[in-house]
Amino acid sequence: MLHAGVMGWPVAHSRSPEIHGYWLKKYGIQGSYERVPSDPSDFETDVHRLRDSGWRGVNVTIPHKEAALSLADEATPRARAIGAANTITFSRSGRILADNTDAFGFIENLKERAGASWRREAPAIVLGAGGAARAVVHALLESGARTVTLANRTQSRAEALATAFGPPARAVEWAGIGEALAGAGLIVNTTSAGMDGRPPLDIDFAAAPADVIVTDIVYTPLITPFLDAATARGLIAIDGLGMLLHQARPGFEAWFGVAPQVDETLRALML
Ligand code: ATR
Repeated sequence: MLHAGVMGWPVAHSRSPEIHGYWLKKYGIQGSYERVPSDPSDFETDVHRLRDSGWRGVNVTIPHKEAALSLADEATPRARAIGAANTITFSRSGRILADNTDAFGFIENLKERAGASWRREAPAIVLGAGGAARAVVHALLESGARTVTLANRTQSRAEALATAFGPPARAVEWAGIGEALAGAGLIVNTTSAGMDGRPPLDIDFAAAPADVIVTDIVYTPLITPFLDAATARGLIAIDGLGMLLHQARPGFEAWFGVAPQVDETLRALML
């Protein structure tokens, strides 16, 4: 029996057990994937306990993503660049390997849903400057985005992020988003605004080109007010569920030995 799971505090809300549970059944693997509540003060001890009891690895969610990177023996370049890890694998010799698959999930979803219609040479606008924005900016730059324009309610955070990545990432004022949308090829919301129970972002899409792709990494609700507003203007809108599904693939493959597919049954299960 192969064991893996997700660590968080709280962790009850995590949808990862449904994803991995679906794949374990689909591929006929003798394995389990469990929620592991882990208080931040116990996180390191909990990781070692799971490793020592023979687990294959874990996903890590809020608030442990930075701690997961710091306690790792090895980390992938993308985890280092993002400054956080969401996937830990225990090697046969007991080493702790940290990866960040959020950027991978974001790009795979974009490729699957937008295909060739994403214009990489046009500016990509990223709203927000938290951990999720870091993963998205990394993903965009890795995949050849010519310019990444960051805007955040607290401007200093957008500037810090732009400085951390360097050109072609740059920051603009939150109030200047409307103008920044002119000529954009992609607009990504990474803020937590519009999540269930929170006030939505009020973005004016008037200046955005007709072929811009609008995407939100929030998936509760599936269609955020941000995506709704984009659709109302006839723009292409891509929800964030696919990012969640695709980010789970590398961990599943590392722990259970099968490269899983995101299929329509899984998507439907998550709605
Ligand atoms: P994460 O690391 O998961 O991305 P975070 O660091 O809390 O989470 O970042 C949340 C992001 O949503 C921030 O960019 C935040 O803006 P501030 O830096 O100004 O706090 C943004 N955000 C949250 N609520 C918002 C709102 N109502 N309007 C605009 N931005 C909002």
